[in-house]
Amino acid sequence: MAISPEQKMDLLVSLCKRRGFVYPDSEIYGGFANAFDYGPYGVELKNNIRDEWWNRFVKLRDDVVGLDAPIIQNPKMWDASGHTQNFSDPLVDCKKCKSRFRADHLLEAKQAEPGYDKEKPVEMKDIRCPKCNGELTDVRQFNMMFKTAVGVTDDASSVAYLRPETAGGMFVAWKNIRDSVRKRLPFGVAQVGKAFRNEITPGNFIFRTREFEQMEIEVFCQPHLAPEVFEQWLAEMKSWVFDVLKLSPKNVVFHEISAEERAFYSQRTVDIEYAYPFGVKELYGIANRTDYDLSRHAEFSKEDLRWLDPETNEKVLPYVVEPTWGLTRSVLAVLCEHLDIDEADTADGADKEPRMVLRLPPRLAPVKAAVFPLQKKDEMASLAKELVAALRAKGIVTEYDESASIGKRYRRQDEIGTPWCFTVDFDSVNDKTVTVRDRDAMTQERLAIADVPAWVAERL
Ligand code: GAP
Repeated sequence: MAISPEQKMDLLVSLCKRRGFVYPDSEIYGGFANAFDYGPYGVELKNNIRDEWWNRFVKLRDDVVGLDAPIIQNPKMWDASGHTQNFSDPLVDCKKCKSRFRADHLLEAKQAEPGYDKEKPVEMKDIRCPKCNGELTDVRQFNMMFKTAVGVTDDASSVAYLRPETAGGMFVAWKNIRDSVRKRLPFGVAQVGKAFRNEITPGNFIFRTREFEQMEIEVFCQPHLAPEVFEQWLAEMKSWVFDVLKLSPKNVVFHEISAEERAFYSQRTVDIEYAYPFGVKELYGIANRTDYDLSRHAEFSKEDLRWLDPETNEKVLPYVVEPTWGLTRSVLAVLCEHLDIDEADTADGADKEPRMVLRLPPRLAPVKAAVFPLQKKDEMASLAKELVAALRAKGIVTEYDESASIGKRYRRQDEIGTPWCFTVDFDSVNDKTVTVRDRDAMTQERLAIADVPAWVAERL
């Protein structure tokens, strides 16, 4: 069924709340701007994406090791990385309605207006408040790091920060990792965790939040190998996007960032963008960060962070290629990509009605199988409960549901993305078979109950 991008986003947000994927946080207190709870199915979907990522890129490889560093670390590291100085966005306020905006976003929006001359430079002075048309203040820089105080005193010496990215922890731990794992370059260090940014204009549901999760890898390599390592990890990211998340190629853009636009230390940056219903925007990124991070940390910590090349016996400061993934942004892209509306039979089978379905890749789906007894009592219910136990014994996340009509039970599982539903009916009692119904094709076939756990495991 054709729906507009705005309708799609509204449907997604309401489905997420109704079915327990994502809720507005602290709702009983009137909510808290831009904070969200990942509900029972949302946390499973997020954890499944994280676990796929960790297995694929850490556990099943020889050349990547994991790390779990604290969220609050020695604040000197943020001086070295340049965050205390430069991690800021250009900010303007409306003098009339007091709304706050990112100046660069307003410039971009002006440039995108229909009929706007793209060759003409956009001036901030030409822009008025998009909400009330009021006059805007001059642009000033706003540091996005969340400051906190550590210890019993609250003075300059106690200032610390919530990390604005997970990457920093991996640079700071590099010396210990280098000395303890004795790996040959190139090798990567991976970390998954929360990051915090006091974003000026958060929004678009969970796209840009102040608290979010990242999955990052810092690949340390000999300087001359960095371009090759970059290509390898770009290919890994492509494979992740298409083979694991199953995003459609028409919705994904690989945006080569020009030399003028990228950070001064980067030799190459590619942004991986996704066509969300609210526009094409960043999903992930990969950058060749050269030796910028390690040279800054070596300078500020006075430690030797070079690596001894066993072949040449020379010490080199490694370059770093950094593929970075937003975990919470992955959840959003997966939900946007796989939410679909088609048609299914009505309860009496006489007509068709719209059906909302999350066509999630089975490995990412929060629930893999649902089992329904046609009737609540006696043998059908006990056979169904036995099947649930057999599926769970194989580690397959399964739900048992005996409430409402079978049609309604299907609809509920379709909306949470469960790939297979099994119905135990009158025939099951005699011949020990069940009907399996496929979420996407809506086809049904008969299977021996004893074969069901292996049948599901084979498809995951
Ligand atoms: N270490 C590099 C780094 O942090 P980034 O482009 O600022 O680079 C990496 O962030 C990824 O983190 C982004 O591609 C995006 O997926 C995610 N991300 C960044 N800011 C975010 C926010 N405010 N809310 C949700 N995800 C965010």
